[in-house]
Amino acid sequence: MSASYEVRDGVAVITLNNPPVNGLSYETRRAVAAGLDQAQADASVRAVVITGGGKAFSGGADIREFGLPKALAEPNLLTLIRMTEESSKPVVAAVNGVVMGGGLELALGCHYRVAAPKVPVALPEVKLGLLPGAGGTQRLPRVLGVETALNMIVSGEPVPSDVLAALPGQKLFDQVADGDVVAAAIAFARSVADQRPLPRVRDLKASHPNADAYFQFARNTVKAMAKHFPAPPKCVDAVQAAVTKKIDDGLAYELELFKGLMLTPESKALRHAFFGERAAAKIPDVPEDTPQRKIAKVAVIGAGTMGGGISMNFLNAGIPVTILEMKQEALDRGVATIRKNYEAQVKKGKLEAKKYDQRMALLKTTLSYDDIKDADLVIEAVFEEMGVKEKVFKQLDAVMKPGAILASNTSTLDVNAIAAFTKRPQDVIGTHFFSPANVMKLLEVVRGAKTGKDVLATVMSLGKTIKKTAIVSGVCDGFIGNRMIEQYSRQAGFLLDEGCTPAQVDKAIERFGFAMGPFRMGDLAGNDIGWAIRKRRYVEHPNLRYSRTADLLCEMGRFGQKTGAGWYDYQPGKRDAIPSSLVDKMIEDHRKELGLAPRKIGDDEIVHRLVYALVNEAAHILEEGIASKASDIDMVYLTGYGFPLWRGGPLCYADSRGLFNVVHTMKRFAANPHDDAAFWQPAPLLARLAAEGKTFT
Ligand code: NAI
Repeated sequence: MSASYEVRDGVAVITLNNPPVNGLSYETRRAVAAGLDQAQADASVRAVVITGGGKAFSGGADIREFGLPKALAEPNLLTLIRMTEESSKPVVAAVNGVVMGGGLELALGCHYRVAAPKVPVALPEVKLGLLPGAGGTQRLPRVLGVETALNMIVSGEPVPSDVLAALPGQKLFDQVADGDVVAAAIAFARSVADQRPLPRVRDLKASHPNADAYFQFARNTVKAMAKHFPAPPKCVDAVQAAVTKKIDDGLAYELELFKGLMLTPESKALRHAFFGERAAAKIPDVPEDTPQRKIAKVAVIGAGTMGGGISMNFLNAGIPVTILEMKQEALDRGVATIRKNYEAQVKKGKLEAKKYDQRMALLKTTLSYDDIKDADLVIEAVFEEMGVKEKVFKQLDAVMKPGAILASNTSTLDVNAIAAFTKRPQDVIGTHFFSPANVMKLLEVVRGAKTGKDVLATVMSLGKTIKKTAIVSGVCDGFIGNRMIEQYSRQAGFLLDEGCTPAQVDKAIERFGFAMGPFRMGDLAGNDIGWAIRKRRYVEHPNLRYSRTADLLCEMGRFGQKTGAGWYDYQPGKRDAIPSSLVDKMIEDHRKELGLAPRKIGDDEIVHRLVYALVNEAAHILEEGIASKASDIDMVYLTGYGFPLWRGGPLCYADSRGLFNVVHTMKRFAANPHDDAAFWQPAPLLARLAAEGKTFT
C-alpha cells in the first residue's frame, strides 16, 4: 500500500507513503481513495486528515508513471480531488513538507489546510511546458488572489508556506503550525468536525478589480518573456477563466489547455530535457549502489582561465581548494580573477559579502606538490600539450596519497594516454569543464578504458554537488560535444565558400534558436584555437575536406574579440559584431580561386546543414558507445552549446522532423557538387532507424 490509514481521536489519518516525495502514483491514489471510503463508512470517524510520510506532503505526479497508462488509471487525480471535496466529513490537509503540482491540487480539494512553516509551495508544471491540469489554475486564484496565483503558476517557482500564510486575505492555509503538524491538524479537524456546510475552494470567487487590463498586461509581459514557449500564455488564459467562468467550465477549459500543451513540441522537448538530466546520472554498467570515494579536499593544477573557474565551483559548494602553479605571479593573477568574479556577484547583490569571505577562506595556493598530496581529488588544468600533461601526471603519481582521484581537464588529448603516465590508471578520469567554468552547466566526464567504476560514480555525484549537468563520454577526439561541433563548423565553412556571409549564417541559426552562430562563437572563443586543432587534424587526415576561409582569417591575424577583429569587426571595449568588408572580400577571393559562382542560400538550408551535421556525427558517437544514450548527447548540446531548449537538443529535434526526412534531406545535400558527398553519408545507426521508422530517443 502506498498510503497508510489509522484512526486517532476519532480522526482518520491517511498518510501518503511513496518515497522519495510521495508522488501520486496509481497505488498511492488507490490507497488514498480507499482511506476516504473507509472513513465515510466508519461512524466513529468524525473527520479526515491527509498528510505525507517522510519529508514531503506530495511532490505531485509520480514521474515514474509519466506517459504510462497507469498515470491516468482510475482513480485518477481529478477523481481523487472530487472524492475529497465531496467527502461528507471534513478533510484537512496536514501539509508537513513540500507541496507541489498535483500534491497542491489535492490539498486544494481538501476543506481545510494546516501547514508547517517554510514548506515550499509550487505549481511547477510550466517548467515542463504544461499547466496544472487538476484544478490548480482554478482553485489557487480563489484562495490566494489572481495576481499571486498567476505569478506562481507562470513562474513555477516555490514560495514558502509561511510567506503565503502572511498574505492579507489569503485562504490557502487555515493555520501554520510549528512542531507536530499532524497533531495540530487532528486538533483542528476535531474543532471543525461538526461545522456544516463544509467550506470548498470551488465555492469561493476569484476576482480582480481591473481584470481585463490586468490580464492584458500579464499576457503581454509573459509573451515577451517566454517567446518560444506556449505554456505561459496559456497559464494566463486559464487563470483568467477562473475569474470569468463558472468553476466547472473553468476546470474543463483548463483540462483542454493542458491536453493541447501535452502535444506541443516545446513541452515534449522540456520533458525530454527533464528526464535527460535524470537519466544522465544512470550509467548502464555502473550500478547505483557503487561505493564512492570521499571528496573533502580538492587540488587544482594551473590557475589560468579554466583552473580559476573550476576552483570556484568547489569553493561555492564549501569544499576547500588548493591551487598549484609554477610561479607566484600566475597564482596571484589567478586568485585576483577569482576575487574579481566574486566581487562582481557581491556588487550585483547575487552573493552576500559574508559568503564571499567564507568562500575565499577555503582557498589556498602553493608552488609545492607537497602541499596537495593529501587532496582527495586533483584536477589538472595546465597547457594543452601532452608533454606538459606527462610531467604533471608523473609528478601526481609520485606524490598523491593512494586512492586520490587524478582528473584532467584536457579538451582534445587522449585521456587513456594521460592515464598511462601513471601507475594507477584506474584513478584517472577526464573532467572536461566548459568556459567560463564557474558559469557553464555542462561537465563532460571522460571515462578512460581503465577508469574505476567507483571513480566514475564519485565524479558523477560530485558533478551534482557542484550543480553541473555531468554527462559521461568515452575517449575519442573531441569527446561528445567538440567532436560534433567540428562537423557543424565544417558545414559553416562550406556555406561561406558557396555564397553565404558569416552574418547570414549566424543570423539563420540564431533565428533557429542557437544562443550564438558559429562565427560569432569563433570570435568569442578565439579563432586561433580551431586553427591549432586543424593544423594537427588535417595533417593526420589529409583527405578530409574543409573550407580554407578560417585559416585565411587567422593568417590575417584576426583571432576574434581578443585581437579586436575576427569574422567581424569590433569597436574598442565593445562586443557588438560588425560585418567586415575585409572578411567579405577574403571570402569572395577564395571563392573565385575555387572557381565557384556564389549561390543564394536560404535559411532553411543553412539551418539543416548545420544541425544535421551534428545529428549525423551524434549517430556515430552513439553507435560507437562514446555516449550511452541519445538523451546524453542532447543534454550536452542544451547545457554546453546553446542549442535551443524548446527544441530539446539535436536528436530530439531530428526525431521531431522524422528520421526518414532527415536522411532524405541529407541525400539532397550530398548531391550538391561543392559539398562533401562522404560527409552526408548517413551514419549506419541513423540509416537503420530511418529505414525502420524509429527514433533516437
Ligand atoms: P591557460 O593557459 O589559461 O592556463 C594554464 C595555466 O597552467 C597557466 O596559468 C600556467 O602557468 C599553468 N601551468 C602550465 N604548466 C604548468 C605546470 N607544469 N604546473 C603548474 N601549472 C602549470 O589555459 P586554460 O585555457 O585554462 O586551459 C587549461 C586546460 O583546460 C587545457 O588542457 C585546455 O585544453 C582545457 N580547456 C580549456 C578550455 C577553454 O575554453 N580555455 C575549455 C575546456 C578545457
